[in-house]
Amino acid sequence: MLKSISCGALRKENLDREVTLAGWVHRRRDHGGLIFIDLRDSEGVVQVVFNPEVSPQAHSIAQSLRAEWVLRIRGKVGERPSGTVNTNIPTGEVEVMALDLEVLNPSKTPPFSVEEEAAEADELLRLKYRYIDLRRAKLRNNLVFRHKVVKFIRDFLSRREFIEVETPILTKSTPEGARDYLVPSRVYPGHFYALPQSPQQMKQLLVIGGVERYFQIARCFRDEDLRADRQPEFTQLDLEMAFVEEEDILALMEELFTDLIENIVPHKKLMKPFPRLSYGDVMARFGTDKPDLRFGMKLSDLSDIAAESGFQVLSKTIDSGGVVKGLVASGCANYTRRQLDELTSFAQERGASGLITVALDGEPSNSLDDLRQEDIRSAVARHLSLEEVRKMAVRLGAKRGDLLLVVAGTTRVADLVLSQLRHEMGRRLELADPDLLAFGFVLNFPLLDWKPEENRWDSPHNPFSSPKDEHIGLMNTDPGSALAKQYDLICNGMEIAGGSIRNHRRDVQEKIFGLLGHSKEAMQSQFGQLLDALEYGAPPHGGFASGIDRVVMLVTDEENIREVIAFPKTQSAADPLFGAPSTVDDAQLKDLHLRLRSE
Ligand code: AMO
Repeated sequence: MLKSISCGALRKENLDREVTLAGWVHRRRDHGGLIFIDLRDSEGVVQVVFNPEVSPQAHSIAQSLRAEWVLRIRGKVGERPSGTVNTNIPTGEVEVMALDLEVLNPSKTPPFSVEEEAAEADELLRLKYRYIDLRRAKLRNNLVFRHKVVKFIRDFLSRREFIEVETPILTKSTPEGARDYLVPSRVYPGHFYALPQSPQQMKQLLVIGGVERYFQIARCFRDEDLRADRQPEFTQLDLEMAFVEEEDILALMEELFTDLIENIVPHKKLMKPFPRLSYGDVMARFGTDKPDLRFGMKLSDLSDIAAESGFQVLSKTIDSGGVVKGLVASGCANYTRRQLDELTSFAQERGASGLITVALDGEPSNSLDDLRQEDIRSAVARHLSLEEVRKMAVRLGAKRGDLLLVVAGTTRVADLVLSQLRHEMGRRLELADPDLLAFGFVLNFPLLDWKPEENRWDSPHNPFSSPKDEHIGLMNTDPGSALAKQYDLICNGMEIAGGSIRNHRRDVQEKIFGLLGHSKEAMQSQFGQLLDALEYGAPPHGGFASGIDRVVMLVTDEENIREVIAFPKTQSAADPLFGAPSTVDDAQLKDLHLRLRSE
């Protein structure tokens, strides 16, 4: 090695030792006589002193050093003079007196500073120069956490007799709800491989193949709209087991995530056991199937009150089959006109035709029974009777001093808008404990989802989930009421994992494909490999997959998935470092039997 010890490892125990260090110039300070360098490597930073009386040669070269030059330094570890100890860094009690200095490689002036204290550079620039960005302590730390998470999972599952099996990247599409990334075949003109959206069918085939406990740290590819917690290429812990029931998988997931958090971020708090919520209940109470469970602010249905209202916006919504729902922003009755307009725009941007805001003046201790018309502040106050407002306030659990936020619309729009308003108000009012990881299971998903626009059934997750045993018959009589043996694990407003017990009988699987609108021929051409395998001794089986990137976001407190991936794509699915996607030359296209069409 070009070094005898890491910069970040030096402590008082190393005093008076001669060491050889190698690393990057983090910071340089020239104090006339003495030059100080903070030398950085992957373990941390240490102060190096260049004294012309100790080593004139090293001191003279040190005058020309700049940020990010790569150095090798031989020196002696000494105690920092009293008053100059830096308690903020682990090496802060010592410094290295340089005896020799060798420049291994100079650096151009970096496009942004690597120092943590510096303002964060523009993200596009950070992605273009990712190899410089990765030198920052935060990103380095996130990669270390990522490594720890994956290692923990591998060890945990290996101890429980799971084996890790790789599945192909060049494969055929598995429907997980997104568009496929396609790879043209050179050998078969006009034919394409698809990159896996998940190894779903492969893992089922592995279990049918006798691998009773499978897992994989699997890369998945989905061409879908990107968000703060979505990348086109991401990593799953993918897992499947033979001879299990729902309860076995839930117990395994709970133990895995509890142990993982307690080992990797012991200062974080967990709610134990993980609460179990029913899909119908979470949708009614939170308007989303992945609510942040760290705070309350539940939604209430006000439709019955609205149906009786003299205010036509409310009553007409109910007459036309819609709903009126609301929530309470506690202590926000004093919101200004501008703040209320902002909330209204927030709701409208998400599809609501408007937002009804009702402020209840008065002290929280004042009873709602004494509420007077003049205590109600709302742009639509004149349309609402005192009694009506009081009923809504009671239903929502509001006090004087609170602000009621009410949306009228279709169930889908009201839920979407109110769930996002709840999230936004939770953030503004700092209701969520940042040290709490509020995991919870969502169970009892419907097997099928009606798509009115397309006049057909869809599967909420994937079509391989088994109906609850007692609901198999419902597939013939009332498919919309059938529930699936399916579960999600949520945490702090994100879906962390999802899975199900699968159909291991061909007739049940075919029935579901049939309800989804696949003809027999389409089933055989798209899913023949799985359907056929179900007829050769497929054991009952089930599993789950969890987004590793999202788990790392939880343990590092990152809000953006790009911060936990070494080389992520931008929001528009591009890689600014390599310039991908890119055009290819004509010869490559010809090999692949492709010709580009001008738009
Ligand atoms: P699902 O589609 O729910 O299930 O995905 C499982 C988990 O993967 C993560 N995830 C993502 N993370 C980052 N970027 C994305 N674009 C992205 N999409 C999904 C989420 C999610 O919970 N085959 C099934 C699993 C099974 O049934 O076993 C599947 O893929 O954390």
